[in-house]
Amino acid sequence: MNAPPIIQTRSLAKTYLIGDVRVAALEDVTLAVAEGRFMAVTGASGSGKSTLLNLLGGLDTPSAGTIEVDGALVSAMNREALARYRRFGAGMIFQSFNLVPARTALENVELPLVFSNVDKKERKRRAAELLEKVGLAHRANHRPSQLSGGEQQRVAVARALANGPRLLLADEPTGNLDSRTSREIVGLLAELNRGRRLTVVMVSHEESLVREYAHDVVRLRDGRIVGTESRA
Ligand SMILES: Nc1ncnc2c1ncn2[C@@H]1O[C@H](COP(=O)(O)OP(=O)(O)O)[C@@H](O)[C@H]1O
Ligand SMILES: [Mg+2]
Repeated sequence: MNAPPIIQTRSLAKTYLIGDVRVAALEDVTLAVAEGRFMAVTGASGSGKSTLLNLLGGLDTPSAGTIEVDGALVSAMNREALARYRRFGAGMIFQSFNLVPARTALENVELPLVFSNVDKKERKRRAAELLEKVGLAHRANHRPSQLSGGEQQRVAVARALANGPRLLLADEPTGNLDSRTSREIVGLLAELNRGRRLTVVMVSHEESLVREYAHDVVRLRDGRIVGTESRA
């Protein structure tokens, strides 16, 4: 791992309070992700994978510890800076594709560009280019209900990349897909990562895909890192 880390967490922790019971979802997670890597996060259900990804993506704030992304201290950002970070810093995709049902594929990809005030013509151009990049140019005018699961996830990937983040966070992106389509989606993430301009962190249970595509694997158990493996 020669590249400097794009992500560095130190003693990261997240505790949820349910009634008066404390749930330690994440404890003492110190983790570096080198720029341009494809990292997989694995672990049993409840081990803290989503908590970690949500913290990295700025969807949630830590109870303790720090998160640095691309030199910026995400864990210390105020609400406004966090909103900007979520918009431009880290793209996210999820198991449920979270597309807007009433909008076409193209319009879904355009949405983040609407929020960042890109003018209409440029929006359409960029959204079309992104759909092309994920192999969906021919489905631009379809609504989510008219698309397969794999196609919907491709739209979600294009949308996540709309504002040009250097980091893509994927939380069980193949959880709703059959094995062939899962391979296609993880293959797409690997392809986007290949030029190494996009760093990918993906939560996945699919050992064979993880082994095939991830450069680094981090294993969580009960909110703690219990193993890491890396290959060149
Ligand atoms: N919003 C929340 N409120 C309370 N407990 C939560 C919340 N989110 C997650 N947890 C708990 O934190 C632990 C880790 O959850 P999670 O990060 O979702 O695990 P994973 O994604 O690995 O299945 C679990 O015990 C879960 O019940
Ligand atoms: Mg989860």
